[in-house]
Amino acid sequence: MTTTEIAPLTGLSEAQVGALRLDFPLLARSVNGSALAYLDTGATSQKPRVVLDAERDYYEQRNAAVHRGAHTLAAEATDRFEDARGTVARFVGADDDEIVWTSNATEGLNLVAYALSNATAGRGGAEAEQFRLHAGDEIVVTELEHHANLIPWQELAVRTGATLRYIPVDDDGAWQLDAAATVIGGRTRVVALSHVSNVIGVVNPVEQLIRRAHAVGAIVVLDACQSVPHLAVDVHALDVDFAAFSGHKMLGPTGVGVLYGRRDLLNALPPFLTGGSMITTVTMESAEYLPAPQRFEAGTQRVSQVVALAAAVDYLTAIGMDRIAAREAYLGQLLVRRLGELPHVRVLGPQHSALRVGLASFDLAGVHAHDLGQFLDDRGIAVRVGHHCAQPLHRRLGIVASTRASTYLYTTVDEIDRLVEGVTAAADFFGAGT
Ligand SMILES: Cc1ncc(COP(=O)(O)O)c(C=O)c1O
Repeated sequence: MTTTEIAPLTGLSEAQVGALRLDFPLLARSVNGSALAYLDTGATSQKPRVVLDAERDYYEQRNAAVHRGAHTLAAEATDRFEDARGTVARFVGADDDEIVWTSNATEGLNLVAYALSNATAGRGGAEAEQFRLHAGDEIVVTELEHHANLIPWQELAVRTGATLRYIPVDDDGAWQLDAAATVIGGRTRVVALSHVSNVIGVVNPVEQLIRRAHAVGAIVVLDACQSVPHLAVDVHALDVDFAAFSGHKMLGPTGVGVLYGRRDLLNALPPFLTGGSMITTVTMESAEYLPAPQRFEAGTQRVSQVVALAAAVDYLTAIGMDRIAAREAYLGQLLVRRLGELPHVRVLGPQHSALRVGLASFDLAGVHAHDLGQFLDDRGIAVRVGHHCAQPLHRRLGIVASTRASTYLYTTVDEIDRLVEGVTAAADFFGAGT
């Protein structure tokens, strides 16, 4: 495929997108006198009415603490909560007891890192020995990680004496796979990597690194925040050991995230948070813990959010992840091509990858991303500006900030046209390139 060709419109037609937009109340509003063009799903997605209704229905009809109480409401709430676990498990190709509810992806990634340092501190008994890190052991990340998949590993290294190493990216922000062969080696114990970069939007060749990591006996932790909402992801087929993602980026509410963990690993790991609901027996001196997933779900759970996330997953499944992925690959290529054709615009990342989601970040020469974001907002166009929680990647690409446009199943081609017109007008207004 050349730089100017783009994939044909597949997946969802403009008419189908127009129809499903009616499910999203917020998309009907105007901002600063213009129809809203919401191009910030990479940060958080908008919610269809079925998700809002599911949360309301839960509170109006079933609200109770789960896994406790001998009353009907508690039983109904528990059924909904556990059914939701099954719904999410099927969505990502996992088994029900491999799904742990968290607050968001950030908490899921921290959960793994803290559980590993608890094992290193001697918690978890003989079963957890396999996770113990020693001085000189290595934790490997990549240079394009979101801070949520970098800082927990920096902290784990400090707590355990392990060394943090990284797989560098090239000038296009693509992993230098040759370097991976030397960075991932005999001392590597953990490899933490993103499925899709939240800055570049390209689907990373994770399979290669997963194979390499397992060949040296390392655990693989996948940041699936920008992949699970946009592509059909099967965690068993990918053969990752852990994967984290956030509900709010996939039509669900804030306050709920998911950590997938391989059953045997979850059951051998010591817990991260401790307290009620995750124990079998407690004495004044010690406690015994439930098997996974409950051993990682301490305290009163976020039931309404979990139930609403299942409604979001049902909505996505009914439309079809393959259709959504095809539509977004098209929108992503459209963004890259249309923005890349503008004078003074540098789109970050490879220009002709066919494997991408609908997300592109760019720099408008001589114009600060915040000024551009404000200019676009005046026209009702919502984009993300700044470093997108990926400072090392921006530094590597030679910029401090960029502007990011990101799409979802509700994004229209007209919204991308408006973005391109807005950037063109901003370039003129601010004298880009001078
Ligand atoms: C790639 C990636 N990883 C992790 C996160 C963290 O997600 P959350 O803030 O929902 O925990 C994000 C969110 O922007 C992301 O894009």
